[in-house]
Amino acid sequence: MEYRNYYLSFLVALCLSCPYTCLLAQNPPYKAVNLGNWLVAEGWMEQPSLFDGIVNKDLLDGTQVQLLSTKFQTYLAAENGGGADIVANRPSASGWETFRLWRVNETFFNFRVFNKQFVGISNQGGNKIVAVSNSPSNQETFQIIRNTNDPFKIRIRASNGLFLQVQSETSVTADYQGTSWEESDPSVFRMTIVRTLQGEYQLTNGLGPVKATQVLRDHWSSYITEQDFIFMSQNGLNAVRIPVGWWIAQNPTPKPFVEGSLAALDNAFTWAQNHGMKVIVDLHAVEGSQNGNDHSGTRDGFLEWGDSYIPQTVSVIDFLAERYGNRPSLGGIELMNEPQGVDIDSLKKYYKAGYDAVRKYNQNAYVIMSNPLGVEDSKILLSFVSGFNNVVLDVHYYNLYTDNFNNMNVQQNIDYINNERASDLSGVSSTNALSFVGEWTAEWKVESASKQDYQRYGQAQLDVYSRASFGWAYWSYKCQYNHWSLKWMIENGYIKL
Ligand SMILES: *[C@@H]1O[C@H](CO)[C@@H](O)[C@H](O)[C@H]1NC(C)=O
Repeated sequence: MEYRNYYLSFLVALCLSCPYTCLLAQNPPYKAVNLGNWLVAEGWMEQPSLFDGIVNKDLLDGTQVQLLSTKFQTYLAAENGGGADIVANRPSASGWETFRLWRVNETFFNFRVFNKQFVGISNQGGNKIVAVSNSPSNQETFQIIRNTNDPFKIRIRASNGLFLQVQSETSVTADYQGTSWEESDPSVFRMTIVRTLQGEYQLTNGLGPVKATQVLRDHWSSYITEQDFIFMSQNGLNAVRIPVGWWIAQNPTPKPFVEGSLAALDNAFTWAQNHGMKVIVDLHAVEGSQNGNDHSGTRDGFLEWGDSYIPQTVSVIDFLAERYGNRPSLGGIELMNEPQGVDIDSLKKYYKAGYDAVRKYNQNAYVIMSNPLGVEDSKILLSFVSGFNNVVLDVHYYNLYTDNFNNMNVQQNIDYINNERASDLSGVSSTNALSFVGEWTAEWKVESASKQDYQRYGQAQLDVYSRASFGWAYWSYKCQYNHWSLKWMIENGYIKL
């Protein structure tokens, strides 16, 4: 038999013995999509919302409130931002007048101040209200009682069973026994919500352990299924980027998080393999929070990740690398999503240790490092990664979130992709670092854009981001807002791959 024929019949035999897709070994550059809001919840993306079943669902962990004394018409404030008394002498509210809730249960809360102390009853006597404790105990736990007809009119009951009252602008105490809702009552406050968070912590702690387990298991098994991998592979996608949280690596799962996202990720690897796709595992939420955003797993929006969190964050990577490092459908492991405001030296120290953890299990698997957000110099990691092998630098491109996009028209947005983005992207790769546009979307600030506008903008991004040597990943696969959903964009002819 001629060699060529022998080779052909070998190929035919191989094709008969396994589905054709397994022959299509996928290598970078990837055309990928993020499976956002699957294993790390993001409340803004879904309607009806998983959060709907929560009692007092506007008072989740991390909700920032300001409290106006209706009698004095002044705001409560943590003097000096914390470490001293709570006073009530501010005519307007900003940072020191803002309190972050920690939710104990449906009606009980802790209040965390600007400098991170918790509001509580003083140990010095007199039932004085102060903000001195660094961790909340019973004395720092309060019940919020909402007026039935006007839920932003509240009274606050302290752990001694008595209500907070404003005695004077410099004296707030927990010793009031009245029950009126009159504006002149010193225990009545008008609560304003100035920021909310809707991430995995808020969802699980808001639902409570029993409901959270049920709601999340249903979500994980229905939001993404093997059908979606069939759809993705049939429409030209060859990889998924899957955000996961640090709790995925721990058994038992630390409260309030719920056990089960690991099994869902296992399924994704199987489905990817069945349909010729790759999985990029993205550690999206790290313990301590690397950016304070909803999707970082934060409780209250404070960024606390730093040197002291490196060991446990590396152990999450170690766990993921051990479990998936040699799976044929592994596309890469991303060490941390979107660090923003973390110390750059801590980040490098962590990236080095995370890289080494992956290399313990696989010499060649791609290790993906996010460029820090909010840093002028997008080449900031280029020389750092020069000593590594098979490293990918991840940049996220949204024509959103900063004011310069507010007034751009369609063509200006497209020009921005063709010029600024193209130039930035070409700068973040080198001989040993691949580039990856790990998040982008066809949504923008242009109002009432036509279908054709979206098509042109989407195509411009595809053209430019296809130059990334590791590829790109759209945000996201599903979303209640159509232009954020690649599934919807494909089904409706806005994007074709
Ligand atoms: C809520 O927490 C408070 C304070 O720990 C406790 O006294 C109360 O019994 C709890 N309520 C419920 C319904 O669990």
